[in-house]
Amino acid sequence: MHGKGWEPWRSGLKLPLTGLPRVIAHRGASAAAPENTLAAFRLAHERGARMVELDARLTRDGVLVVIHDSTLDRTTDGRGRVIETDSASLALLDAGSWFAPAFRGERIPTLEAALGFLAGLDLAVNVELKSDPGQEARTGAEAARLIARVWPSDGPPVLISSFQEETLLAARHAVPELPRGLLRERAGADWRAAMERCACSTLHLAAHHLDESLLRELYREAVPVLVYTVNDPREAKRLFDLGVRALFTDVPEAILPVAPPLPHSWS
Ligand code: G3P
Ligand code: CA
Repeated sequence: MHGKGWEPWRSGLKLPLTGLPRVIAHRGASAAAPENTLAAFRLAHERGARMVELDARLTRDGVLVVIHDSTLDRTTDGRGRVIETDSASLALLDAGSWFAPAFRGERIPTLEAALGFLAGLDLAVNVELKSDPGQEARTGAEAARLIARVWPSDGPPVLISSFQEETLLAARHAVPELPRGLLRERAGADWRAAMERCACSTLHLAAHHLDESLLRELYREAVPVLVYTVNDPREAKRLFDLGVRALFTDVPEAILPVAPPLPHSWS
């Protein structure tokens, strides 16, 4: 696995983050296509995004699939929990009709299929790991090994993230060189210790809990901050001006025009 210049963040060190785009299409171009489907990833690419975020979780038979919720109900024509469903049944479900009839027949991709598709488009990816109770370590380890096996060594950046530290720690243990991001709604008083525990490169925070003094502190500390989910270009500009490294958005075509160029040291 190559590092593309990525290194774990450490207090007081300014580290290069070469190749990490400013704008990350959240679940693909999810305002215009059903989230977490190949259609949404394709559309993100067509609309100019160079990186997508997706959500991955385990099925009953241990296959990592790309779906946000713990249940199938909202985004497919199936019912029940993903962790209680076999991958073969899940592969038959329609993951597009709930969004619009034109997307009928979209499937829940396996993580392996999604990564192959994204690599083929030369899109960078943030794989957010969602772990069911009791599956935290397994999810992290399986995902890290899968990514290390299938992602091209000369491909664009790939970044694992999770709200669950146990999942990040398992990923770290399985494939230490794979970059990790600590995902939180609020940074919390222990953000520094948590980043160090999991050897994270980036800190991902919710837009609606941010305050400017925290952002200034993180910028001073050279912590690369990625903020979700920002669909308003004016808000995006304000956050970029405050030193935010990258934004997750459902509308990449609206945010790309206000994204500043990367400083030389980051490009
Ligand atoms: O990874 C950022 C963001 O996607 C986390 O929240 O609920 O959209 O997965 P959620
Ligand atoms: Ca997510």
